[in-house]
Amino acid sequence: MTTPLSYLSSAGPAAAPLTQLAWGLGGISVAVSVIVAIALVWGIWRRRPAPPAGGSGLEAGGPPGAGMAWIYVGLGISVPVLAACTVWTLFVLGEVMHPASKPHLTLQVTAHQWWWEVRYLDPVAGRVFTTANEIHIPVGEPVRVVLSSPDVIHSFWVPKLAGKMDVIPGITNVTWMQAATPGRYRGQCAEFCGLQHARMAFFVTADSPAAFNTWREGQLAPPPPASANPEVAQGSALFAARCASCHTVSGTPAGGIVGPELSHLASRETLAAGTIPNDTQHLNAWIADPAAVKPGVLMPKVPMTAAERAQVVAYLQSLT
Ligand code: CUA
Repeated sequence: MTTPLSYLSSAGPAAAPLTQLAWGLGGISVAVSVIVAIALVWGIWRRRPAPPAGGSGLEAGGPPGAGMAWIYVGLGISVPVLAACTVWTLFVLGEVMHPASKPHLTLQVTAHQWWWEVRYLDPVAGRVFTTANEIHIPVGEPVRVVLSSPDVIHSFWVPKLAGKMDVIPGITNVTWMQAATPGRYRGQCAEFCGLQHARMAFFVTADSPAAFNTWREGQLAPPPPASANPEVAQGSALFAARCASCHTVSGTPAGGIVGPELSHLASRETLAAGTIPNDTQHLNAWIADPAAVKPGVLMPKVPMTAAERAQVVAYLQSLT
């Protein structure tokens, strides 16, 4: 129940009714399987009575229609149970359709092969920012999630916080999530979308309102300028020359939108959509050969010497 992707426990009002439904329908399914298994064993054990001596053998089954009572009993039990399950499911779907109060925060989430782009919308244009794969939300309030995909069908799923919602090219789907308790909740693409579907994870961190505001202001601020540290400065120049056509770092000329925004990469805990931890060794290995970490990944292997790569890593790690 405490495994990160288990939907048998939940941590918010968008997921709680689904958890109850999952337990309820699961319990009913188990009960039906057990009853059928018992009836089957009983039927085998009971056997037909031996046919009378000299009979044709057909008499043992009784007169035509003798077994129909069991069909009526079965229908009489299963039809009301199935009808109740349908009504319960529809009721739950209605319950999780909309949050109890209007969300103040809207996230525009774009699913890419194989990572998540997350844009924090704001009525003030200068307060919009973009991040990737790690979402922060304030605890205790609903968050609206607007979903789109430029490539194939994905599915946005944070089992502890909300049910699945498909992300379909050409269609904008809207869902919401809410965390009742602070914590870090794992999300996962739940629709097969190609080679790295399984490594299209993300995390939702539910912060106290104060911690959320601190995080948000940190993301809004441009990253610290390439410092006096010569390694970082050299890494910054290398990044601008070799990486900037795909990645954005705010406050710098790097403005590529093909890959994830990296303005505050060092504030994230994982790389490559939850695939590896964000530390020096893994970051270095990822840049050296992305396809070795994530076969099929669209990020190319950019030619660099080991010394140059170390400088780029130092620069990326300065983006706090
Ligand atoms: Cu994206 Cu599976």
